[in-house]
Amino acid sequence: MISGAASLQELHQAEIALLGRKAPVSGIQKTLGTLPEENRRLVGQAVNQVFEAFRAALARRDAALRAEADRAIAESERIDVTLPGRRPDPGALHPLTQTEREIVDVFSSLGYRVREGPELETDWYNFEALNMPPDHPARTLQATVYPDVPGRPDLLLRTQTSPVQIRTMEREPPPIYIVVPGRCFRRDTPDPTHSPIFHQVEILAVDEALSLADMKGTLEEFSRAMFGQGQRVRLRPSFFPFVEPGAEVDVSCFVCGGSGCRVCGNGWIEIMGAGMVHPAVFEAVGIDPERYSGFAAGMGVERIAMLRHGIPDIRLLFEGDARFLSQFIRGTG
Ligand code: DAH
Repeated sequence: MISGAASLQELHQAEIALLGRKAPVSGIQKTLGTLPEENRRLVGQAVNQVFEAFRAALARRDAALRAEADRAIAESERIDVTLPGRRPDPGALHPLTQTEREIVDVFSSLGYRVREGPELETDWYNFEALNMPPDHPARTLQATVYPDVPGRPDLLLRTQTSPVQIRTMEREPPPIYIVVPGRCFRRDTPDPTHSPIFHQVEILAVDEALSLADMKGTLEEFSRAMFGQGQRVRLRPSFFPFVEPGAEVDVSCFVCGGSGCRVCGNGWIEIMGAGMVHPAVFEAVGIDPERYSGFAAGMGVERIAMLRHGIPDIRLLFEGDARFLSQFIRGTG
């Protein structure tokens, strides 16, 4: 009964059966009083010996069962030191951050210094000093977000990184070569190509005798480093109030190489706006336009990331869906 007990519970039942009030030996114990004096001692001793023997056997079985249980637990928790380790998920830079850093790195390697400015701007820096006076039509193209700050109707969320041109020229004398990454805001309804929050990288070069040829050479250098050697750059006349002349900058399509495909249509992809710094901008910051000239450019980080990776919808870049983002995990460093 004792050695056959397969569990502590069965052993407890055996204990009740062998030592409890209804156990056969307990029955004998109860009759001791009825025995003749001379037998009582002997039978009493025998009863006690039997109880002792049961208790000892129960204790041994109890210890054995517990040891067995411990071994089973140890076995189930055993660590196989020969198994290969499990790699923790490393985390990664967001594709927008990757693209922004690459753009900035290209200009850094050309000697441009990184500058940043506030997202909460004033009308002066975001528009007025950039040659966009209050009733300038170009303002309405940039649906501006005005936060409700009592007494400060001049505050706005910057619609572009161009205000950092002004902030830098106010503070630093030429020569200036800067690259400006930053977040911008416009009152746009999200759709596959619009997001009310987006990112730009701006560049500004101010020096003596900078020409349109310097600008084109710089942008060619950038597009080759960014999109591959053999890239060509094309300037199309365009208008931005803070440059004259202004241009849209196209690069030869890095998908088809310029022969025309679904991505580019005609072999060219527009990637930024650029131009020679307008004299009115120099005057706003007190730089002599007779002595200095400069060029500036601004590009959308989302657009470049989408073109490079074939991302069909800008909203994917802001939803934080791990199934999308995990495609951009790559080696660190
Ligand atoms: N700030 C312009 C925009 O957001 C982009 C731009 C165009 C920047 C021409 C420039 C430039 O510096 O020269 O649409």
